[in-house]
Amino acid sequence: IIGVANWPYPRWIAHRGGGRLAPENTLAAFRLGHACGYRMFECDVRLSADGVPFLLHDDVLERTTDGQGPAAARDWAALSQLDAGGWYSERYRGEPLASLQALMCFCHATGSALNVELKPAPGSEYETGRIVAETLSRGWRGLLPPLLSSFRAVALQGARAGGASLPRALLVEYPGPGCMDLALELGCVAMVAEHSRITPQFVERLHAAGLALLSYTVNDDAEAQRLLRLGLQGLITDRVDRFDPAVHAA
Ligand code: G3P
Ligand code: MG
Repeated sequence: IIGVANWPYPRWIAHRGGGRLAPENTLAAFRLGHACGYRMFECDVRLSADGVPFLLHDDVLERTTDGQGPAAARDWAALSQLDAGGWYSERYRGEPLASLQALMCFCHATGSALNVELKPAPGSEYETGRIVAETLSRGWRGLLPPLLSSFRAVALQGARAGGASLPRALLVEYPGPGCMDLALELGCVAMVAEHSRITPQFVERLHAAGLALLSYTVNDDAEAQRLLRLGLQGLITDRVDRFDPAVHAA
């Protein structure tokens, strides 16, 4: 059983595939993260209008593609034609959005572990969790099961319904008083908290309850050292160029 006493995942996790060194959540980013030595990746997943899970952080297409408007209004056939690399640099122009299916293939080919953050469009929280968990339950062939996380409790309920055996983590920006009980209620094995608000007391409480603790987004040396000393199970970072998982493993 996965929990703080048995945490099988790599300590270092590449945020959105390759941090800020490549267009986020594209396969090019994951290739770069992998080349930097990363063997676990965080990604943001949502549904197209026709229910295909794919990678995109924002509700709308403008910031990271050449499309416009809500991503949830478009079918995957249309989304898959968009350019998700040109906004970042000329070098990546033409890089497409990645489907969860394609990312699974990448993970299988490279033996990588995966943290799928559910980023549902408003109103589709439960469905997003359910369909993503079903897709992963059906298609995942990796050694370690994908870890599903979300800020949205309803998305984690959907994930539980779609793939009860997949480990889940509750994401929080502020580790408030009720969050640990909520994580336990949702059957989570871990929490993922914003790094600057993590205190020794919080770590102790979570660990005593059997929950693992990961943090985002850790880009600073001193902060990474502080969190490692506190005994965190995972650090999600943009700085895949700075932190070498082989060196900073402890
Ligand atoms: O999963 C951790 C982190 O990615 C959550 O924040 O906005 O970068 O998806 P965000
Ligand atoms: Mg994320």
